[in-house]
Amino acid sequence: MSKIEDQYRAATAKSAEMAKRSERVMPGGDTRSSAHYRPYSLTVVRGEGPYIYDADGNRYIDLLGNYTSLVHGHAYAPIVAAITQAAKTGTAWPARSEAQVALAELLCDRVGSVERVRFCNSGTEAGMLACHVARRLTGRKLILMARYGYHGSYDDLEAGLAGHDGERTMLADFGEATSFEALLTERGQEIAAVFLEPVMGSAGVVAPPSGFLERVGEAAHRAGALFVLDEVITLRLASGGAQAIFDAKPDLTMMGKIIGGGLPVGAIGGSAEVMRAFDPRARGSIYHSGTFNGNPATCAAGAVSVKELTQEKIDKMDKQAQKLAGELKRAARAHELPFSVRQCGSLMNVFFTSEAPPATINREDARMMADFHLAALSHGLFIAPRGLLALSTVITDEIVTEVAERAAKAMADVAAGGA
Ligand SMILES: Cc1ncc(COP(=O)(O)O)c(C=O)c1O
Repeated sequence: MSKIEDQYRAATAKSAEMAKRSERVMPGGDTRSSAHYRPYSLTVVRGEGPYIYDADGNRYIDLLGNYTSLVHGHAYAPIVAAITQAAKTGTAWPARSEAQVALAELLCDRVGSVERVRFCNSGTEAGMLACHVARRLTGRKLILMARYGYHGSYDDLEAGLAGHDGERTMLADFGEATSFEALLTERGQEIAAVFLEPVMGSAGVVAPPSGFLERVGEAAHRAGALFVLDEVITLRLASGGAQAIFDAKPDLTMMGKIIGGGLPVGAIGGSAEVMRAFDPRARGSIYHSGTFNGNPATCAAGAVSVKELTQEKIDKMDKQAQKLAGELKRAARAHELPFSVRQCGSLMNVFFTSEAPPATINREDARMMADFHLAALSHGLFIAPRGLLALSTVITDEIVTEVAERAAKAMADVAAGGA
């Protein structure tokens, strides 16, 4: 056992106990693949502002925010008030609520290409719905997406992570417009939609080269396919989402995470014309239902989350992220570790290689990354096992400094060998 693992185990005995108990009832003791890591994941008992606390009473600065969704941290008072009110007045009913309309209005106001919204309960469902609409409108089956792209756990969209074509999915290379254009020229007649994350998340926070999204969107339209932008993560990057930053014009936008204020959520939006596919008054419309679609608790929390994510707060997080990226690089240099970081707005991904790799999920630095992740936890930093970090609006400049200091200690552990 390595010193890093020893240190982790020594501080997290109660989490270890709970991990053992969970293995008896959940495969591998977990219910979320991305949150799993060795030797066992933490059991968290409480979140408060920028912090979370584990079962052993350890405090962590939360730099992940439930994989980018808690953009205002944990138990944000205005969101707690909205959820409490919803709990008192009923959390779900099969009818419209004011909160639902208000959240839809906010999204239509903020996101340029969105005129109508349909709610669901996860980003995964938003992806399924987008496939459904595209297939219905085009009468075609195939989906084209980026290699190592991630749009949720729907099997037609999982080919991205696998890195090779699926039965109904083809892959091209993110950032290389010609690879998408070639497939759309050759097989365009069979392609229902092209899916892209404007900035790849799972593949390591990869921003698009200039003109890439525009070219792919145009090629999709020339082929008669829909252009779907997955803004499940990137809606936090600007009031109007990443499509406002990169000037992209999707037919459909997938949304999730921050629009639920911490509760389960998903949505797709698009022009009134495209979204008419869902209009129950129209003959042959898509039958899309869901017991918890647009429930008042999620929508009330989501409306607060979106409304309070002002451009000013976004700019503050961007500056903090830039500063933190610089500090992390300095710390790695001081400990003579190979290191790189890719940062886009309040998102970043760290790598223990001297150059950031291209979009991938197969990491050359897997061992060192795993060591750093565990060491970072032991020094009070909660990040994703793959090195993803996402800031929240409740992280102060002082906390950023503290994060840099703690990360430097974790790097010292990694440099000391870990083994
Ligand atoms: C870009 C992107 N799309 C879709 C999803 C799926 O969303 P959910 O986990 O809510 O199903 C995720 C989740 O991380 C994501 O990062």
